[in-house]
Amino acid sequence: MDLIRIRGGRPLKGRVSVSGAKNAALPLMAASLLTDEVLTLSNLPHLVDISTMARLLGQLGAEISMNGEAPEGGNMGRVLSLQAATITNTTAPYDLVRRMRASVLVLGPLLARAGRARVSLPGGCAIGPRPVDLHLQGLAQLGATIELSEGYIEAEAPQGLRGARIVLPFASVGATENLLMAACLAPGETVLENAAREPEIADLAKCLIAMGARIEGIETGTLRIDGVDRLHGASHSVIADRIETGTHLMAAAITDGDLEIANARLDLVGAVADILGQAGVDIRQNGAGLRVRRRNGLLAGVDVKTAPYPGFPTDLQAQFMALMTVAGGASKITEAIFENRFMHVPELTRMGADIATDGSAAVIRGVQALTGAPVMATDLRASVSLVLAGLAAEGETRVRRVYHLDRGYERLVEKLAACGADIERVKDAE
Ligand code: EPZ
Repeated sequence: MDLIRIRGGRPLKGRVSVSGAKNAALPLMAASLLTDEVLTLSNLPHLVDISTMARLLGQLGAEISMNGEAPEGGNMGRVLSLQAATITNTTAPYDLVRRMRASVLVLGPLLARAGRARVSLPGGCAIGPRPVDLHLQGLAQLGATIELSEGYIEAEAPQGLRGARIVLPFASVGATENLLMAACLAPGETVLENAAREPEIADLAKCLIAMGARIEGIETGTLRIDGVDRLHGASHSVIADRIETGTHLMAAAITDGDLEIANARLDLVGAVADILGQAGVDIRQNGAGLRVRRRNGLLAGVDVKTAPYPGFPTDLQAQFMALMTVAGGASKITEAIFENRFMHVPELTRMGADIATDGSAAVIRGVQALTGAPVMATDLRASVSLVLAGLAAEGETRVRRVYHLDRGYERLVEKLAACGADIERVKDAE
């Protein structure tokens, strides 16, 4: 096991490049099951979750080849070619699904392409029980028969799927993606109301259209899909990671730095930029990147409530909380998406933060400075909030269980070190 050691107090300066979005890449890879032709995806990040999804798709019959990295200086994204010429297996095993809940995104494509699927129930994770009831209800409306047995979803559509009007009670990202992919091959029209509007879904829809799907209403809350007989191959470049972009914005702000974030799009982080603007952070688009620094050296406390896109993303809540621990004044953060996404609080408190939680709300009172301490990562986004805190803290911070970080951040230590951070990844002797 590795740990990350940070000596805080150094402002980040220079240029950092954003990788392709993990949460776009995973459904895009699952979409390769919808055709027997080659789907080529570029700008893929080098992440554990991407490798896990590749392993799962390989077990289902997909041939996957990696076309190396883009030349240095360009975006370093990996190029993968995926071809599920034949689906040789329709089971997504517990061993893989428990590692990565996004494995459930093969359910819709397998049903649509092969008429059956046996996918392990993902089970919960650190941030909440994470049920998939909305996925299953929607697929049943598309004509699938769904049973749960021995921890597995047993789904069948022997007569094939057919279009339906589905109203999602909650704008679930994963349910929208599963149902969107399944509907592409379901004869008739499918209307998906209260669909999630995250940019990663627009990216998936764009790729599906390139594969021959007929989809309207992208970026609105209502998707209309006319099913087609088959989809063909395509090439698609994965959208930039808006969560990584937001993370770098906050890293620059918490260290009072001055950063250029390449491959970043301001339109994908609108709500975040608004909130950071209120907190005293100046962000402007210049060319293909963003320039970020504090306006006048001071940070103000700002209240935030997480919400589905285009609201403030839950995946940036922990990072924003780290920033607010050193703001002048108080801020209230409400986590309205997941049931248990405050596990970074006790760790930030160990570093001297003043945070009081009450159910889904946390009140943060800014302190003069954090102090470095040994802390423990618990989930992907909590782990990076501890890194941000360590960048600003006086003294040394050691973040353990950094395998969480490897799931969602590509080469984070190198990227931050290249901007002047005193940060390194070392073997955890304990
Ligand atoms: C996606 O998860 C992301 N993961 C999450 O990112 C992100 O936090 C989340 O969307 C919200 O934006 C990927 O894209 C791989 P949801 P997903 O379905 O699809 C409840 C990260 O850090 N719900 O929108 O699982 C659910 O319990 C990860 O990169 C149901 O009740 O999110 C949760 O409370 C973490 N029933 C809420 O909805 C369902 O059938 C949001 O879930 C589905 C969801």
